[in-house]
Amino acid sequence: MVAILQHPLSTDGTTVDTTLFSQIGDDIERQGYSIRPAALPENVTRALSVCQAGLAEQSYRRAGIGRGDDYLKNGFVRTDEICWITGATAEGAQWIEWAGGLQTYLNRRFFLGLFSFESHFSHYAPGDYYKRHYDAFRGEANRVLSLVVYLNPAWQATDGGELVLYRDDADRAGTRVVPLLGTIVTFLSEEFPHEVLPARRDRHAVAGWFRVNASSEGRVDPPQ
Ligand code: OGA
Ligand code: MN
Repeated sequence: MVAILQHPLSTDGTTVDTTLFSQIGDDIERQGYSIRPAALPENVTRALSVCQAGLAEQSYRRAGIGRGDDYLKNGFVRTDEICWITGATAEGAQWIEWAGGLQTYLNRRFFLGLFSFESHFSHYAPGDYYKRHYDAFRGEANRVLSLVVYLNPAWQATDGGELVLYRDDADRAGTRVVPLLGTIVTFLSEEFPHEVLPARRDRHAVAGWFRVNASSEGRVDPPQ
């Protein structure tokens, strides 16, 4: 069944087909995460692929963790490179628009209060990885929902680079996600530790986070 919301979700006033958003919402309601292969709308997939293909090596920065943790930039936790997405290009704007539609849908359904969205391209060269981590920590209540989409056509099982999503700290087996073009992964940022296994070929993805408005006057972040 195709569920069309009565109120438009897009800023240009067109009505958005919310079938995919409601499927993601159902998954999150049931299990806190969603894995949807071949789900990203074709126009958004194409836009992101165009952006990614046009990114010069020099646009990427060696990824760090948190704020100024220099020792973490030396390959301890993650070795991938990232490039933040702004709405400056039509393609970037298309992605941000789509993510905004998901944000609006989830806010209406779950009253999540998602307030802002940030995202970046990531590039894992062969051998790169991102060790088991959380995207957010309890009490910091900033990153609420993580969103990852993959941009790799014809990814093979032997190419490695799977995302492994763990149910909790005790889970050692996890659920593996092949980073295949068009797959969408969404999960509650505080709930699911996860890692990226070493890739054997260049691996391209976009990772994003929906935040609640956690900023307040004079707040020192991180707390001292
Ligand atoms: C991240 C992350 C997962 C992936 O960037 O925080 O966990 O599959 N990415 O790229
Ligand atoms: Mn992560």
